Amino acid sequence: MIEVCRLSKRFGATLAVDAISFEVERGELLALVGGSGSGKTTTLKMLNRLIEPSAGKVRIAGDDVARIPGHQLRRGIGYAFQQVGLFPHLTVGENIGLTPRLLGWDSARITARVHELLEMMELEPALALRSPAALSGGQAQRVGVARALAAHPNVLLLDEPFGALDPLTRDRLQRSFYDLQRRLKLTVVLVTHDMAEALLMADRIAVLHEGRLVQLGSPQALLHAPATDYVEALLDTPRRHARVFDGLAQGAARA
Ligand SMILES: Nc1ncnc2c1ncn2[C@@H]1O[C@H](COP(=O)(O)OP(=O)(O)O)[C@@H](O)[C@H]1O
Ligand SMILES: [Mg+2]
Repeated sequence: MIEVCRLSKRFGATLAVDAISFEVERGELLALVGGSGSGKTTTLKMLNRLIEPSAGKVRIAGDDVARIPGHQLRRGIGYAFQQVGLFPHLTVGENIGLTPRLLGWDSARITARVHELLEMMELEPALALRSPAALSGGQAQRVGVARALAAHPNVLLLDEPFGALDPLTRDRLQRSFYDLQRRLKLTVVLVTHDMAEALLMADRIAVLHEGRLVQLGSPQALLHAPATDYVEALLDTPRRHARVFDGLAQGAARA
């Protein structure tokens, strides 16, 4: 569904993304994982032309995205980026309904869709009429994901969509998003710096380090055979947590 071939981006002296190649199958959730500054956001933004590549090619459903006008391309792809914020002069509901409106949906259908998405994101229906300025960081993030899903896109690009949520809400929304993605067979590229989130949600994980793709494989493959010390280090925290929880559970069973 998505084919990325030797994609690069240079900002002045910085090679932010260095000739990376990967494919995302239809219905697959690929997690892009890496530390801060590893090139995750830049890679994701090149997929829908919010950033133009310095070199390389992106194809979506067989079409070279460079041949499709950016605004037209983005209308067909759901995306939520921290830096691409909500429009402050529109209500929350109008923000969520933006793409459906551009696609010519009638207002009753848009209103129904907005309420369905607010419920899915565990947000109060009354928020639809509020200004984005009245939202907490976690609420704004959920509105961003709702907006990305609004027009039933087949392809979704999400940049740290659950990062600002408290742990319980994050866990619930991760699981409901996981179910939704499997049920609707959405093709998703999910950026996260959280390896635990990637292990839980992804079909495959692409690890970026200093703009390079250092490993691409299933969660099992990464856990079984990390390709580099960097991948090993990223896996260390979730592994250590799993051992601690196992130990606690065994202790509880004995007690
Ligand atoms: N607009 C920009 N101008 C200059 N440098 C940038 C710009 N955007 C990103 N960078 C640099 O590119 C590298 C990768 O950034 P980014 O893709 O945002 O990383 P990540 O999302 O993994 O934290 C970093 O070194 C960052 O400072
Ligand atoms: Mg980023």
